[in-house]
Amino acid sequence: MAQIIDGKAISAQIKDELKEKVANIKKDGITLCLAVIQVGNDPASSVYVGNKKKACEYIGIESLAYELEENTTQEELLDLIHELNKRQDVNGILVQLPLPKHIDEDMIIRAIDPSKDVDGFHPQSVGALCIGQKGFISCTPAGIIQLLKRSGIEIAGKECVIIGRSNIVGKPMALLLLRENGTVTVAHSKTENLKEVTKRADILVVAVGRPKMITREYVKEGAVVIDVGIHRNENNKLCGDVDYDDVAPICSAITPVPGGVGPMTIAMLMNNCVESAHLNS
Ligand code: GUN
Repeated sequence: MAQIIDGKAISAQIKDELKEKVANIKKDGITLCLAVIQVGNDPASSVYVGNKKKACEYIGIESLAYELEENTTQEELLDLIHELNKRQDVNGILVQLPLPKHIDEDMIIRAIDPSKDVDGFHPQSVGALCIGQKGFISCTPAGIIQLLKRSGIEIAGKECVIIGRSNIVGKPMALLLLRENGTVTVAHSKTENLKEVTKRADILVVAVGRPKMITREYVKEGAVVIDVGIHRNENNKLCGDVDYDDVAPICSAITPVPGGVGPMTIAMLMNNCVESAHLNS
């Protein structure tokens, strides 16, 4: 039977480690503060933002919440970001995505000072990751690396296949697995013979955005399967991109949904906030 990779437990462990670090940083008179901006009131975004605030509280990081109206202009949002960039007491700035259609997301991301880019979405952060330099790393893929390492799963030399090529997950995931000396393939919606490609994987990271798409026909026996997806099924129950009940019996380790990758994203955001203290002090 597969090892169930417990993201809830691993993220709790990371948060406890960070809590201790923050307590020590505070002894040196350094305070930490994350500014979280939400534009509009998309219910899913409100849940994520609420969870980020709770995690800050737990760890001992101050948080500033900006809940802006749906009809906020791009200029108003840019003005706020410029103001937060300048503030010495703000270490991290996070703009919750997606933004309303009238706002250019790329322009907003580029406006955040890279030294406060705790989401790791700024082109400078992505470029630094690409060439192996220091910078913030996108939280979900960084969390997946922690899940693998803390579960004792070797990456070096392994065939790693990622399904999905988004800027937030697929692409940085590929760079991180490469940095860990994995042999990396990125598959996507135009990939031919997808099952043949995914069946090569020792480590399969699934970020396709389609509920339960990945059944055992896509998975090599004994593979490690990481499920980034989160959806509600027909019974309003959470499920991932992987058909867990079908795949779990044939793999060596698998992340559940919920309780796998999800909790790691926030833990790694908190990690980036703690790192930002070093960058900004
Ligand atoms: N929307 C969904 N995931 C994320 C995330 O990790 N960061 C931000 N800023 N917005 C998101």
